[in-house]
Amino acid sequence: MSKPNILIVDDDSISCMAIEGLLSSEPYDLHFACNGFDGIATATSLHPDLILLDVMMPIMDGYETCRQIRSQPDIAEVPIVLITSLDDQPSRITGLQAGADDFISKPYNRMELFARVQTIIRLNRYRRIAEQQTELLTAYDKTIEGWLSALDLRDKKTEEHTHRVMEATLKFARAAGFTQEELTNIQRGALLHDVGKLGIPDSILLKPATLTEEEWQVMRMHPLYAYQWLSPIAFILPALDIPYCHHEKWDGTGYPRGLKGDEIPLAARIFAIVDVWDALTSDRPYRLAWSKKEAIKYLKDQAGKHFDPQVVQEFLKTLPEA
Ligand SMILES: [Fe+2]
Repeated sequence: MSKPNILIVDDDSISCMAIEGLLSSEPYDLHFACNGFDGIATATSLHPDLILLDVMMPIMDGYETCRQIRSQPDIAEVPIVLITSLDDQPSRITGLQAGADDFISKPYNRMELFARVQTIIRLNRYRRIAEQQTELLTAYDKTIEGWLSALDLRDKKTEEHTHRVMEATLKFARAAGFTQEELTNIQRGALLHDVGKLGIPDSILLKPATLTEEEWQVMRMHPLYAYQWLSPIAFILPALDIPYCHHEKWDGTGYPRGLKGDEIPLAARIFAIVDVWDALTSDRPYRLAWSKKEAIKYLKDQAGKHFDPQVVQEFLKTLPEA
């Protein structure tokens, strides 16, 4: 991480040198401005970790400088410590009302200056890291949404089904005791489960008639495509269990790798059941929804064949009709 930037705004060069002398031995990059206007301009380009702002300056005093900084959205959050020789309560109240975070009195006490600067910079850095993490997570989610929109443009039927199955898988996994981090990966994986279909030609993906064996071979490539495209992306790699393995079967007859039993990641075993359940109990263009009774019978028949029998048992317990 780069050294913290401190902007010192003070018209008195002797005062600036005094602060420089006190802080130059610390790992800070010090920047100076000799009036409020320059201070605001430097803050706008520098985005410092802290501004040490003198109160008594000509033309624009420290209070007004502070107010103007607080009114500019891109620098409004910068911590500001007012440097003042005024120790009276009304001056401090004016400073707080202008938006100052703290005060340092002249003449400086070296230990007090260090302590305040260190504390404010540490808190500000922590806040910035937290903000960056939030921004990163938002960017991840937006990226996933973008891929989903691309898939939806190809295959209109998927969006509602995808979100329903994602919610149901997440609910089941939460009850099964997955950690929050695992749940995040399951959520992403469920949303992206069929993203590999972006690589399937329209003539096959959108074919209204039954696929030929050759066409099925192409269609069965979609989990592998998802893995090949997305595994180099660090934040998606832990979420690929579902996109890569949602067509594997408990008895080893699934695809793309023919994994068997516990070789199939648990998240994918759960998803496979939820996905098939949702498909069977929803209306499709070519058939009406199955009754719950018929769908339950199908899951029971397929326990130990297509599905993990234990997960089927647990899933059926979540259904009132089971
Ligand atoms: Fe699929």
